[in-house]
Amino acid sequence: MQSAALRMEDSSHVEASASLHAEPCAFVLFGASGDLARRKLLPALYRLATEGYLPPESVIIGAALPLLSTEQFRASMREALAHSEVGPVDETAWRAFSRRLHYVPMNLSSAEDYQHLGRVLDTVDREHGTRGNRIFYLSLAPTLHAETVRHLGETGLTRSHGPGWVRLVVEKPFGTDLETARSLNQHLHRYLDESSVYRMDHYLGKEMVQNLLVLRFANRIFEPLWDRRHIDHVQITNAETVGVEGRGGYYEKAGVVRDMMQNHLLQLLALLTMEAPSDLSSQAVHDAKSQVMAAARAFTPERIRTECLRGQYVPGVLSGQPVPGYRQEPGVAPDSRTETFAMLTMRFDNPRWAGVPFYVRSGKRLARRVTEVVVQFKDGPLARGTPNQLLLRIQPDEGIALRFATKAPGRATRHHDVALDFRYGSAFDTRLAEAYERLLLDCMLGVSTHYVRNDLVERGWELVMPVLETWGSAHDSSPLLPYAAGSWGPAAASHLLESQGRRWSPPGE
Ligand code: BG6
Repeated sequence: MQSAALRMEDSSHVEASASLHAEPCAFVLFGASGDLARRKLLPALYRLATEGYLPPESVIIGAALPLLSTEQFRASMREALAHSEVGPVDETAWRAFSRRLHYVPMNLSSAEDYQHLGRVLDTVDREHGTRGNRIFYLSLAPTLHAETVRHLGETGLTRSHGPGWVRLVVEKPFGTDLETARSLNQHLHRYLDESSVYRMDHYLGKEMVQNLLVLRFANRIFEPLWDRRHIDHVQITNAETVGVEGRGGYYEKAGVVRDMMQNHLLQLLALLTMEAPSDLSSQAVHDAKSQVMAAARAFTPERIRTECLRGQYVPGVLSGQPVPGYRQEPGVAPDSRTETFAMLTMRFDNPRWAGVPFYVRSGKRLARRVTEVVVQFKDGPLARGTPNQLLLRIQPDEGIALRFATKAPGRATRHHDVALDFRYGSAFDTRLAEAYERLLLDCMLGVSTHYVRNDLVERGWELVMPVLETWGSAHDSSPLLPYAAGSWGPAAASHLLESQGRRWSPPGE
């Protein structure tokens, strides 16, 4: 279990090196008029361009159904940017960036439209020097993934020409269950090698999630304690204050297990639990994740009944404002059984983790937006009070705190809990890049370490399928626990931990 020391490069060195210099490419954004493109992808590309990561030759081609001219598309992206987290837009920077933006109206089921796109790409190669390098980004409803890739393949666009490369990015959700995910993988592999497929999971682009590799394997002080001998249990909390944000139709068919757990939280868990990869190549990291996920214990009916639970929010108060319940949201059935909160207890049957529970909870409309991991250690021989905890603040206020007991000043020996607290915000004088900025740049660089490999996406589905099937079955009698919007979820989630002599560490503290 001893980890091999991984060689990590000093970050200032990496920034300065040539390794972050992408080759020019044409970036084709399918679904360019959609919400994700406007809120996240365009702002990320804009930041990459203004911060010098996008080579001057690179071009962004929006592809979507509306019949827009390139000028109209640019105007609509300008507006999207102003409403995004980028904030006030610098006019000079925008003018330079907007010249890279082009638009091709596309009906995704029309073969001719792909042929037209192919001709546009050839022209772009000639006129801008993008050298045949292409990224196709599918920011589409999942029902369109297979058809779009088939058309790209049949038009010859998934084949690289000359020295150029072709990469395909697939946004989540990747399938809606194990079967659909498997068949989508098979379909993609008909046209592309796995090495050209980039399955997006934006949690893997978050600063603190990427930091796990450094925290765990570049430090001597954590890894020797990172196992069943020293760790009592691990808590993962992913709390959102938002509800379903006008996405009721999608969410009704998804629920929190599909929307957050199968993908984001299992990926986070894999990074927390895996053995040290032999190096930081994508293959080594994916292999290590795959290995630990293979050891994740299956959810049996008994485990689902005793170690998992689900809830749905009812009207409540958030930040002093009354908010409706889930069933009152637009697009949601008045008798909906979709879970907006879930807690799963994950276990790994391997030498490192035998007997250590990982309590994972996630929910909408909870008291505060916070995602964090609490690693709770076993008691020291003279422990009195709270056991040692390592708190990984994924968001907001990214950082790490180590909580331990100290002697309170005075003549008597009184234990007092204190914390060593590291916060990115105060330790570094730089803006933390958004997850999409990092991941889009990785794709341009051909680095897929922080994307999801085919076997891992399937394993994620395989693990949650028994839970989804049980909760989705008309014969299931487990309760859908109501919780007030603005609370921390159903009280049963606390009772479950208490029944095992444990309790949730208050999130965000
Ligand atoms: C998305 C889910 O994948 O992640 C959303 O579909 C969720 O429902 C979002 O709100 C959360 O992302 P973040 O980065 O805000 O934690």
